[in-house]
Amino acid sequence: MRKLTYYIACSLDGFIGDPSGDATAMMQLLDGEFLDFLRTEYPDAVPTQGRRALGFDDLPNKRFDTIIQGRGSYDLALKEGITSPYAHLREYVASRSLEKSPDPNVEIIADDLVGKVRELKAEDGAFGIYLCGGSQVAGELVDEIDELVIKTYPLVYGAGMPMFGSGFAISEFTLGSVRTFGNGALVRTYSRKR
Ligand SMILES: NC(=O)c1ccc[n+]([C@@H]2O[C@H](COP(=O)([O-])OP(=O)(O)OC[C@H]3O[C@@H](n4cnc5c(N)ncnc54)[C@H](OP(=O)(O)O)[C@@H]3O)[C@@H](O)[C@H]2O)c1
Repeated sequence: MRKLTYYIACSLDGFIGDPSGDATAMMQLLDGEFLDFLRTEYPDAVPTQGRRALGFDDLPNKRFDTIIQGRGSYDLALKEGITSPYAHLREYVASRSLEKSPDPNVEIIADDLVGKVRELKAEDGAFGIYLCGGSQVAGELVDEIDELVIKTYPLVYGAGMPMFGSGFAISEFTLGSVRTFGNGALVRTYSRKR
């Protein structure tokens, strides 16, 4: 089975963006040490434009070969005129409103999101599946998540978009690693207790 990893940036109080979902305040904290970590450990989770800007667009995939995102998250790229924001991965976008994919590398999942994710997880392969978010899609897929990689930035939002846009239900995870950074960020990994 391939792992589904929800890799996400959040505030100290667990929000992935402001009430509208905007996460740019967290992105402003990215410094050299943190970017070096991303390049070394999670280059596949950096969007293609960012990889180009940071000069590592040619790095081979390390952990993932597939990404799943909701249309809300994908819209951020579309608004910039980017139709394939993760061109180094197979891209799946959950949407019932996008009638046609805007890009040959992007497949739209309109029906049975959970079933499609189970199908992808059942494929053979050494690489995992990057669940990008946002909140709504992560909430729908919470039971399918095998691993969490939570990048926590030293910011309190008070209110915002939650990590999971789902109802109350407890899921148990086991701490794998914690890495701290000079900018006050920390990255924790967890695996699901099965
Ligand atoms: N902090 C971070 O690291 C991070 C990472 C990613 C995203 N974000 C933020 O998250 C925000 C977006 O999150 P969001 O919760 O608003 O939206 P989202 O989860 O990205 O996308 C929601 C959309 O996905 C589609 N969808 C949901 N369930 C579906 C299903 N079962 N089948 C088919 N399509 C389905 C629907 O699209 P249609 O309306 O087209 O049907 C729905 O409107 C963005 O503002 C972004 O900044 C933050």
